Amino acid sequence: MKALAVFPGRAGSLHLADLPRPTLAEIPGGRGVLVKVLRVGVDGTDKEINAAEYGAAPPGSDFLVIGHECLGRVVEVGPTVTEFVPGELVVPTVRRPGGSLYDRIGQYDLTTDDVYFERGINLRHGFLTEFFAEDPEYLVRVPERLAPVGVLLEPTSVIEKGIVQAYEIQRRLKVWHPRRAAVLGTGTIGLLASMALRVRGLEVTAVGRRTGPYRNAELLRELGARYVSSTETPFPQAAKEHGPFDLIFEATGSAAIVFEAMENLGKNGVLVLSSVTGGGRAVEVPADRINLGFVLGNKVMVGTVNANRDYFEAGVQDFSRAELQFPEWLSKLLTHPVDGLEKYREMMRLLTEERSAIKVFVNVAPEGSSNPPRR
Ligand code: BGC
Ligand code: ZN
Repeated sequence: MKALAVFPGRAGSLHLADLPRPTLAEIPGGRGVLVKVLRVGVDGTDKEINAAEYGAAPPGSDFLVIGHECLGRVVEVGPTVTEFVPGELVVPTVRRPGGSLYDRIGQYDLTTDDVYFERGINLRHGFLTEFFAEDPEYLVRVPERLAPVGVLLEPTSVIEKGIVQAYEIQRRLKVWHPRRAAVLGTGTIGLLASMALRVRGLEVTAVGRRTGPYRNAELLRELGARYVSSTETPFPQAAKEHGPFDLIFEATGSAAIVFEAMENLGKNGVLVLSSVTGGGRAVEVPADRINLGFVLGNKVMVGTVNANRDYFEAGVQDFSRAELQFPEWLSKLLTHPVDGLEKYREMMRLLTEERSAIKVFVNVAPEGSSNPPRR
């Protein structure tokens, strides 16, 4: 079976590997689900793994199969699996539990362990391959009509977690009716976050750097969100014009922006940080002013990473709402398909060079019309 793998620590080592096809027996207790991979999306994490900046191979292996944004179809289930039948569409979660209390109650995205296990990223093989075996616990059912956009569910799950946690935190206020949100960053995550906030009925101001005609700005307008270019209107100015913001979702990939976001968050507001910043940059900030605003304004800031199955399920709900409210919008994010695992060089090229790409994804096993499940 074909798979895309890297030798972690060796830059540019992405290659086509030949691996044995997994079997149901790999999952204990007859709980195996064999999944045929249909599509896999790639993102900055994959880029960093291939650049040897991130990622680790599973113990006993010198390579790591990459890919963590997967849509697949169940082909076979073990004797004790009641949750799935062959033919159903599924998306796997990414992280696998470690030993902390949070891991043991299904909240592995909140692990306090220093070592974490993520399929396709850290210490566990991923999904850029033809088949994988998994426990039903880590598979989320996707309705057939979401098949065309199901590959976007993993990145969406990360956003859902941030937003659901923000609402959870704001229960401290006894009553919270967020009206205005800002989304910082207008890449894939910024667009999906804007969607998730729009389907919740918030007024969304999304901030990116680009000026002039810009496809992502157009997509934001289709959602009824406002696009602001920070090159023309710096964020503090935009906050004066379009705030105060009850919620800010930071997804620019730049830690320096966080302090501007802190300073321009509305009273009682919540700031969600989602950028994974691997660098070592330092910046000077107006510390007294930021701190004073936070104290006098009872503000909250929360970091968020990964997602457990609850957030994938929240993503399925939001996709269903988005398809009704903004028909076809989600599929417009699927800008750059690559047909077949063999085209991995093209996949990496698009990922690293194609500035207009919103989502690069691999059609691993394209399907015909429909493959209804057999219940
Ligand atoms: C993945 C997350 C993961 C994070 C950190 C992201 O690209 O989508 O699931 O937790 O990287 O490794
Ligand atoms: Zn990712």
